[in-house]
Amino acid sequence: MTKGKVDALLGIVFGDEGKGKVVDFFTPQYDVVARFAGGPNAGHTIIFDGKKFVLRSIPSGIFSETTLNIIGNGCVLAPDLFMVEAKEVEAAGYDIRQRLHISKRAHLILPTHRALDRAYEALKGKDKIGTTGKGIGPTYSDKAARVGLRVGDILDNFAEKYAALKARHEQILNNLGYAYDIAEEEQLWLEGVEYMKGFALTDSENELNAMLAEGKSVLAEGAQGTMLDIDHGTYPMVSSSSTTTGGVCTGLGVAPSKIADVFGIFKAYSTRVGSGPFPVELFDATGDRIREIGHEYGAVTGRNRRCGWLDLVSLKYAVQVNGVTQLIMMKSDVLDEFATIKVCTAYRKGGETLTTVPYDLNGCEAVYEELPGWQTDLTELTTYDALPQALKDYIAYIEQYIGVPITIVSVGPDRNATIVR
Ligand code: GDP
Ligand code: IMO
Ligand code: MG
Repeated sequence: MTKGKVDALLGIVFGDEGKGKVVDFFTPQYDVVARFAGGPNAGHTIIFDGKKFVLRSIPSGIFSETTLNIIGNGCVLAPDLFMVEAKEVEAAGYDIRQRLHISKRAHLILPTHRALDRAYEALKGKDKIGTTGKGIGPTYSDKAARVGLRVGDILDNFAEKYAALKARHEQILNNLGYAYDIAEEEQLWLEGVEYMKGFALTDSENELNAMLAEGKSVLAEGAQGTMLDIDHGTYPMVSSSSTTTGGVCTGLGVAPSKIADVFGIFKAYSTRVGSGPFPVELFDATGDRIREIGHEYGAVTGRNRRCGWLDLVSLKYAVQVNGVTQLIMMKSDVLDEFATIKVCTAYRKGGETLTTVPYDLNGCEAVYEELPGWQTDLTELTTYDALPQALKDYIAYIEQYIGVPITIVSVGPDRNATIVR
C-alpha cells in the first residue's frame, strides 16, 4: 500500500484465481476498493467468521466499515442482479449505501443484451464461447458502437432512452429469428433501476483523483483474468473487457503514473471455464481429483471448471502484460496429496518448442517439468517458515522462471488461511 497511489490486484490466468478472498484480506489497509472492469460475469467468493458471500458486481472491500467501494466506469452493471446482490449483503447486516459509489459512466446491461448474448452463442453452435450469459459481450459492443446506456442515464428521461435501445435490440433478435421472452426479467430489471437511485451515482473518476491527491490509498480489484482479456487473452474465446493493468487506468479514470504495486494472483494449478485453448488441461483422473479437492465448479454458472497443472509460459506472459510486481499463489492446499507435481515450462507446436504465448494457443502441447509434492496438510499452517521444504522449492522454481517474488501463499478459503511471507 502506498499513500496517494493505486495498487492493482489482477487475476492473471483464466479467472477464479481467488481475487475476492485476497481483496477482502487486503481491504483494511486501503481507503478505497474499486472494480474497474467486468460485471456480473464475475463471482468473487469471500469467507470469514463462518459466513460466505459470492459477490458479482459489488467490490470485495464492502465488508469493511471504513472503506469506500466504487463500481468504476469500466464496469457493466445489470440493475436487477445488482439489486438482488445488494439486498443479500444488506440482509446480512452491512450498511452498503454508506460505502458504495457507482460511476455514472458505467454501462447498463439490458435484458435484451442478455437475450442477444444467448442468441449469438446459439448461432455459434459448437464454436460457442461458453459465456456466462450475462450480456457482457453485447453490452461492451454497444459501448464501443456508441449506442449504450450508462448509469447516469437513469436520472434523466430514461424511459425513452431505454425504449430506443430495446427496440434496436429487438430488431436484431427478430432478424436473427431468435425466440426470446424477457417480460418477467424486464419487470425485475425496471425495479432494479429504481432501486439503484437509492445509491450514490457519482463522477467516481473525479472522486478517486481527489482522494489520491489527499494521499488516500486505492486498491483496484480485477475481474476475470489476463487470458480472458479482450486484447491479450485467447481471442475470440475471451470476455469483452480490459482485465489488465491498462484496464485499471481506463476503467477508473486514473493515470498510469498513479499505479504502484501490481499483484498478480494465480492458483498453484490451472483452471478454465468455458471454451477455448487450454494446453495444460488434464482429461484423466488427476484432473478430476484436482477438480474434486479444489471444488472447481463455477461460482456463477455452476459449470465444471477444466483443470490442469500450472502453466508458467502463460503466467510469464501475463506478468509481462501487467507489469506484475508481486505474485500471490492461491489454493496451494489443493495439491497437498500429490506425490509429484508438474509445471508447464514450454509448448510444442508444429515441431517447434515455444517459451512465449503465440498468436494462437490452439494446437500447443504442454511440455512439463516434474517436481516433488509436499504431501503435507497445509491448512493449519500460519507462517511461511512452517511450510514444507518441497512447497518452498515449488515456490522458488516458479519465482526463478517468472522473475517476480511470491509474497503471499493461500492455504484455504477462509480469510485467515493466508500466509504473508
Ligand atoms: P475469484 O473470482 O478470483 O474471486 O475466485 P472465485 O471466488 O471464483 O474462486 C475461488 C474459489 O476458491 C472460491 O470458492 C474460494 O472460496 C476458494 N479459495 C480461495 N482461496 C483458497 C485457498 O487457498 N484454498 C482453497 N482450498 N480454496 C480457496
Ligand atoms: P471472475 O471475476 C472465470 C469466462 C466465461 C467464458 C468467457 C466469456 O470470477 O474470475 P462472458 O460472460 O464474460 O462473455 O464469458 O469468459 N469468464 C470467466 N471465467 N471467471 C470469471 O470471472 C469469468 N468471467 C467470464 O466462462 O469462457
Ligand atoms: Mg470467480
